[in-house]
Amino acid sequence: MYKHLIDLNDFTRSEWEEIIHTAVEIEKNPQKYSHACEGKILATLFYEPSTRTRMSFQTAMLRLGGNVIGFDNPDTSSVSKGESVKDTAKIVSGYADIIAMRSAQEGAAYAASMFTDCPVINAGDGGHLHPTQTLTDLLTLTQEVGRLNGLTIGLCGDLKNGRTVHSLIRALSCFENNRFILISTKELSLPPYVKNFMDAYNCCYQEISSLKEAVSQLDVLYMTRIQRERFSSEAEYQAQKHIYILDKEKLTDAKPDMKILHPLPRVDEITDDVDADERAVYFKQAVHGMYVRMSLIMFCLNHSDHRRSAQRPFVLNEQCENPNCITQTETYLPHYFEKNADMLICKYCSQRKLI
Ligand code: CP
Repeated sequence: MYKHLIDLNDFTRSEWEEIIHTAVEIEKNPQKYSHACEGKILATLFYEPSTRTRMSFQTAMLRLGGNVIGFDNPDTSSVSKGESVKDTAKIVSGYADIIAMRSAQEGAAYAASMFTDCPVINAGDGGHLHPTQTLTDLLTLTQEVGRLNGLTIGLCGDLKNGRTVHSLIRALSCFENNRFILISTKELSLPPYVKNFMDAYNCCYQEISSLKEAVSQLDVLYMTRIQRERFSSEAEYQAQKHIYILDKEKLTDAKPDMKILHPLPRVDEITDDVDADERAVYFKQAVHGMYVRMSLIMFCLNHSDHRRSAQRPFVLNEQCENPNCITQTETYLPHYFEKNADMLICKYCSQRKLI
């Protein structure tokens, strides 16, 4: 079984720690790794726009001595002629040793991984997950804060649609004594499946609407963009934009060693005058992303996955109810679900349904 990274929970906590440890070593001495992937090819299949994720994957492979192929716009590939995810993934896996894939459809990378002859990395699937951003965030916290436990973390903005938030909360819930302050409007609050995850790990969390009220308690403030492209109408987006803006004035009550992270891109949720504040680490965070992806590429190419073959989702004659699930358009896909108490959970997009 290939070592795919679709959901961060495909890996164990000790595997995350190994990837982060190697990334720290690469940051110290990149030259040592400059031939680590000589002769290997990474394919970047980006069905959705990206700057950081795509380019950091590409430069990661180039800095490891490998090469890169792919598309950054499906309209310039045979996807525009109607080629399925299955066929695209199968064909490209004959050309490349590893694939990084981004899609607006939830579960797309998981679907692709069922048909490839090489590892697949989820580079973001709709509003669902973004595990390599989470590895970036874990490396940033390791390097800039010095620990991954005992933190009070404020997450602010679009917690409903922000896939980076979902992945990060799930990862940090696995480390001891982390507390989450969820700062959003009611309309953009965290989905139930992520709250269920925090409950399962007995994590403390609090939902509030005021950034100003929360800021003095925080070790880490994770700002996010209101994700215009995920709203069903422009009117709904207009009602939510500009609500959370971090500026110098709001930072007056913050701890002197609080760190400000943001997966970027930003629109207006952090004003430019915050950039020079030494607590702002979001530009460093984007650089850490390149190193952690170097480490991840090596890890996936050098390991196989014995756990995956033991997982047995079952097929049901039911359609997932999420309109953005990949099974809605790629109709040949088996309808895989997992059972959890009285819930059916779609294996592609994590949509829950009462049995
Ligand atoms: N953080 C992130 O995913 O950025 P891009 O959309 O530019 O890849």
